[in-house]
Amino acid sequence: MAQRVGFATRVGAIAAAVGSAVGLGNIWRFPFEAGMNGGGAFILVYICCILVMGIPVILSEFIIGRSTHSNMKAALRRLSPGKKYYLFTYICIVGSFIVIGFYSVVCGWIIEYLYQAAMGQLSNHTPQEYNEMFSSLVANPWRCVGWTVLFLALNFLVMSRGIEKGIERVSRIMMPLLFVILIIFCINSLLMPGAGKGLKFLFYPDFSQLTLRGVLDAFGQAFLSLSIGISCLVTYGSYFKDDALLTRDAVTVGALDTLVAILSGVMIFPAVFSFGVEPTAGPRLIFEVLPGIFQQMTGGYLWALLFFLLVFFASLTSTISLSEIPITFMIEEHKMSRPRAIVWTALLTLVLSTLAALSFNVLEDVKLWGKNIFDMMDYAASNIFMLLGGLFTAVYVGWIMDRKIIHDQLTNGGRLKGGIVETYLIFCLRYVAPVSIIFIFLYLTGII
Ligand code: PHE
Repeated sequence: MAQRVGFATRVGAIAAAVGSAVGLGNIWRFPFEAGMNGGGAFILVYICCILVMGIPVILSEFIIGRSTHSNMKAALRRLSPGKKYYLFTYICIVGSFIVIGFYSVVCGWIIEYLYQAAMGQLSNHTPQEYNEMFSSLVANPWRCVGWTVLFLALNFLVMSRGIEKGIERVSRIMMPLLFVILIIFCINSLLMPGAGKGLKFLFYPDFSQLTLRGVLDAFGQAFLSLSIGISCLVTYGSYFKDDALLTRDAVTVGALDTLVAILSGVMIFPAVFSFGVEPTAGPRLIFEVLPGIFQQMTGGYLWALLFFLLVFFASLTSTISLSEIPITFMIEEHKMSRPRAIVWTALLTLVLSTLAALSFNVLEDVKLWGKNIFDMMDYAASNIFMLLGGLFTAVYVGWIMDRKIIHDQLTNGGRLKGGIVETYLIFCLRYVAPVSIIFIFLYLTGII
């Protein structure tokens, strides 16, 4: 096996997997998706999806990775010699590029808000003014593209210097800190007038507000947030030691990721109702609401700075893991040197991200099915690529992969008890995940 220089050491693999999972998906995307899909019912479907599809697919990716100690393509070749399943890897590569494409634009917005916070601009404004502030940011192509390019430059600089491990070490302090800060903000939001309305919106499932499109969104959100369906966690699995407890690690990643998303909702929604912001505001939701939250707190200036800095690090650990998918692929499968693979990945990403950053201004009239380029990328990445990737992974491990390998991986070669976990895993992978995903696709495409 080629020497695998990468972002995850064996020891830090689990922390790194959490670092990949927790990011803008939880803090930015989860609240606005919940807001657009009626709140409580969406969240209930989301949690069920994590339990019956999300965690089983995380575990499947770990199993594929650890049983072969290689990237997805090599793994599928080794597990199914002579078969063409490895072609699925190309879908993972395209999917990962699309995710980085729109994701890095939002990372750019985070840097802008970090800058605004540092300049003391995030205080003494009305909710309406915060709304205009965001609108003027996205309407400005230079600022949007500029921040996005800066973010990408930082991302690929970190990767080319080989200091991902340093970033991971920093984020091992930053992540728990982000968690604590979220709890403090939640308490603060819960004390706002009208907080009850926000909580009711989040936790009272009103199914009349949920459409089947919303169910698809919940599935897509779960897959994006957990970083599954595009083989990202296969790479982490490949670094796990033989005595690592895969089931426990998969549950840990799923649980922590979900907790951060729910906390983000509890931080945002009481404030949404208290400030009179529309819960259906979409991608701009947290940018309209957060400054108002900071403004109400003593030492708001510092809270804002700290918050955006932590979110920046959480996003960086996610984009590093995302970029690693095509980079590892180019190195291990196409024998490219690491610097070359990084340059190619950076260039392709730059093109996609620039298009996404321009889709609110210069290219705002370029629309497909009523969606601009950014929205298209966001939708295609989570609701199509990651979901179909998750479907493939579930079907592959559930139906095709050798059961003995799965049993060995779950029990660490027979040393642990597998029993009920194995039955649950196989049941979810064989029936629950494929039936739910295929049903929702057939329904939405009008076939049933
Ligand atoms: N899970 C990350 C987030 O929630 C995004 C991501 C997707 C990272 C896919 C890696 C792979 O922010």
